[in-house]
Amino acid sequence: MSSDRALLEVRNLTVDYVGEHSIARAVNGIDFDIREGEAFGLAGESGCGKSTVAFALARLTRLPGLVSGGEVRLNGENVLKFDKARLKAYRWNEVSFVFQSAMNALNPVIPVAEQITDVIETHNPGLGADGARARAEELFELVGIPPARLDDFSHQFSGGMRQRICIAIALALNPRLIIMDEPTTALDVVVQRDIIEQIVDLKAKLGFSVLFITHDLGLMIEFCDRIGIMYSGELVEVAPSEAILTNALHPYTRALGNSFPPLTGPRLRMEGIPGSPPDLRSLPQGCRFAPRCPRAMDICRVENPELRLYPEHRSQAACHLLN
Ligand SMILES: Nc1ncnc2c1ncn2[C@@H]1O[C@H](COP(=O)(O)OP(=O)(O)O)[C@@H](O)[C@H]1O
Ligand SMILES: [Mg+2]
Repeated sequence: MSSDRALLEVRNLTVDYVGEHSIARAVNGIDFDIREGEAFGLAGESGCGKSTVAFALARLTRLPGLVSGGEVRLNGENVLKFDKARLKAYRWNEVSFVFQSAMNALNPVIPVAEQITDVIETHNPGLGADGARARAEELFELVGIPPARLDDFSHQFSGGMRQRICIAIALALNPRLIIMDEPTTALDVVVQRDIIEQIVDLKAKLGFSVLFITHDLGLMIEFCDRIGIMYSGELVEVAPSEAILTNALHPYTRALGNSFPPLTGPRLRMEGIPGSPPDLRSLPQGCRFAPRCPRAMDICRVENPELRLYPEHRSQAACHLLN
């Protein structure tokens, strides 16, 4: 269960990709909190900025990407201002990551055990080799792999197993937050579900928070407490998961929900959303979704609406139709 206390507060976060002749603002001043023990999802069409946010929170933004404004606060401390030493503690101890390609990042010529104990020993020098080994065994058990396999090499594991190993490494130092960007996308659907269910169990047991990104809206709704919907680098809605399909406030959220096949019942044809998101280098005036919005009004083409709280829905949304 999540509490109401914010673990991570994202304020006015702005990230640019700097080109030779132009700047693309991929994330345009977004605000959201991830609460203690919460699974928070980020959804939206490909290219809307989800990974850019994940990388910024992890302090992994690299050129041509540039975090050009805002704050990411962990218990009041601005993560974006951390120096090298503070960052070392932040990564793995406080926040860890599982990315889509993580399983391919395992070193093929070093036994898996060593890759886990390395992380543990670097951050816990006092633990010693035996202590680190014991912890590695415990972690394998947590993610459902027999500890006897610790000395195998990564190629001896299936894709699903390798991704479980990455989750084990992410859990190694008991972080408060795990950032998961398409963690199971490369895997087959059954394995995906197994792994997500395991993460749900581990989260209940260990109490960490999760930032979860997937293109599978159904999986996200099942797994997450709240979901932020991104469009063209902005948050257009932040709502409890159960509201996303049944009580969406923003027309884009509704369109996204409609483009998704229902979880139960007959599989209807996916509607898709007509049109495509705007080019970040030539954005429309007003609401960025207006050119595709079936309910756009005159004001929508002039003024970009702000994300506002609608307490009766426990949701935030940025849409002129609601005012
Ligand atoms: N290295 C890069 N250089 C230039 N533009 C980039 C780079 N990475 C991402 N972008 C742009 O930033 C926007 C957001 O990308 P991304 O965060 O990867 O979206 P998502 O994860 O939602 O699919 C896209 O328009 C993308 O083209
Ligand atoms: Mg992405």
